[in-house]
Amino acid sequence: MSLSLVGSFLRKQICVKLPVPTASFTDKTIIVTGSNVGLGLEASRWLVKLGAARVILACRNVEKGRLAAEDIRSTTGCKPGTLEVWHLDMSSYASVQEFADKVIAELPRLDVLVANAGVAPTKFRITEDNEETITTNVVSLALLALLLHPKLQQTAVQHKTQTYITATGSDLYLWANFKERSAPTGQLFATLAEKTKKTDMLDRYNVSKVLLLLFMRQLAALAPLTSSNVIVNVTAPGFCESELTRDYNPAVNYAMKILQRTTEAGSRTIVYGACAGPESHGQYVPECQVVPAAGLVKGAAGAELQARVWSELRAKLEAVRPGVTGLGYL
Ligand SMILES: NC(=O)c1ccc[n+]([C@@H]2O[C@H](COP(=O)([O-])OP(=O)(O)OC[C@H]3O[C@@H](n4cnc5c(N)ncnc54)[C@H](OP(=O)(O)O)[C@@H]3O)[C@@H](O)[C@H]2O)c1
Repeated sequence: MSLSLVGSFLRKQICVKLPVPTASFTDKTIIVTGSNVGLGLEASRWLVKLGAARVILACRNVEKGRLAAEDIRSTTGCKPGTLEVWHLDMSSYASVQEFADKVIAELPRLDVLVANAGVAPTKFRITEDNEETITTNVVSLALLALLLHPKLQQTAVQHKTQTYITATGSDLYLWANFKERSAPTGQLFATLAEKTKKTDMLDRYNVSKVLLLLFMRQLAALAPLTSSNVIVNVTAPGFCESELTRDYNPAVNYAMKILQRTTEAGSRTIVYGACAGPESHGQYVPECQVVPAAGLVKGAAGAELQARVWSELRAKLEAVRPGVTGLGYL
């Protein structure tokens, strides 16, 4: 653990004050994944307050989603029909495809996809063909983003507007050891899916955020703004109180509160990602400003890792839904 990373973390948590969102989301249709609790719930509340016409809470537990929608309605007094709860389970490729197919068939427009759902489990568990963190935080996120990109592109053209895919990343990507990257060519994801004595579940979440950032950079490169008008960026809310560490020891969770932001404060960074300027395309945007890539995603080594990750991820996604990486509408 580097002292400069610890110093930078403490400085940000203690000194940085996040700007209160003021942008207008009037007329916008927005999907927020993982919005029944935590940062997704608070980001959805902001988006409703800022005038969004239609906010879809995409949740794996629809009952929890309904309670969240009721909570937002009661605090914002929004019009009936502004909020809807749709089922989406990011641990299932079938669910992701069913959700995306419904979006394409039923929504007249889609302005913003907030890809926020995420997990940080301490136990190794396989869902689909990966360890759960990798399926939920990376592969399903990539599948959903690629399936919905043409819809966002279409909305941008038809309504002469800017549309967005913004994913919730984490500064913990800078802390990743990512020992699995020494795997032979073509074996990165397979290695992450193997439980061995060397498997480090404390590092796994950090690795997932490296992979997420590399995928989003790749998507931005595949769909440059000159041809797509869909801004693709990665936000990071800092360390916030939420249910993310629900698997941790309660004493550890209690102790961490001292340094945590509220989820409301952290959610402002997500709202920023959903209305940031074109300079944010393909960029990491923690705490409401673009910062240069660092750590494992930096420079030539980062570009090489990105190419390797994309080569494997593309093959996985094509196996799930042939043609999905072709970004149909472009
Ligand atoms: N809190 C932080 O300090 C922090 C810092 C940096 C980044 N982040 C990122 O912020 C995002 C939101 O996390 P949070 O802190 O708000 O945690 P949280 O309170 O645990 O919320 C996570 C959300 O994701 C949902 N989710 C988990 N697995 C899912 C699945 N398979 N399908 C659909 N939804 C699923 C959860 O639903 P259930 O309630 O049903 O589990 C919940 O709504 C995550 O991507 C996280 O990595 C958090």
